[in-house]
Amino acid sequence: MAIEKVTFDVKLDDDQMLQKVEEIVTRFETKRGAAIPILQSIQTEFGYVPKPSLKKVSSLTGIPASDLFSIVTFYAQFRLQPIGDNLIQVCHGTACHLAGAEEITGALLRAAKIQEGNTSPDGKFTIEKVACLGCCSLAPVLTINGEAFGKLTPESAVRLLKKI
Ligand code: FES
Repeated sequence: MAIEKVTFDVKLDDDQMLQKVEEIVTRFETKRGAAIPILQSIQTEFGYVPKPSLKKVSSLTGIPASDLFSIVTFYAQFRLQPIGDNLIQVCHGTACHLAGAEEITGALLRAAKIQEGNTSPDGKFTIEKVACLGCCSLAPVLTINGEAFGKLTPESAVRLLKKI
């Protein structure tokens, strides 16, 4: 299974970013009820939801910034940090969970020296837990930049990470 690697232009300065956010918000006719689609569009544009964008969305829509922050922290689909150079998604669906996904994620986080958040301090890796990737017979499964690897152990997963 190969998913195209997605790269994002996140090198905009704050003014350019806020201008882009304004363009995104103006696409939505019903603004107050569109918090999630607006945030999804911002994440699609930048690869994450920059924190300053929440204030901008709030001022344009009337949705309190605290509500927007609650949404991006509650739903796993949203990120508040830029994605690293390599995106590792560890499946935590039922089959993978039962086959040891938690141990694999733990080993990867330690190997990449990620203590909080999802991205390593050097920006090389973002490690995320995701729902079923659709290849349960290979559990436990992860993808690295869209390429799937299955039947993993914590040790083999860390070997994959070190190869990058
Ligand atoms: S549960 Fe992991 S691929 Fe389905």
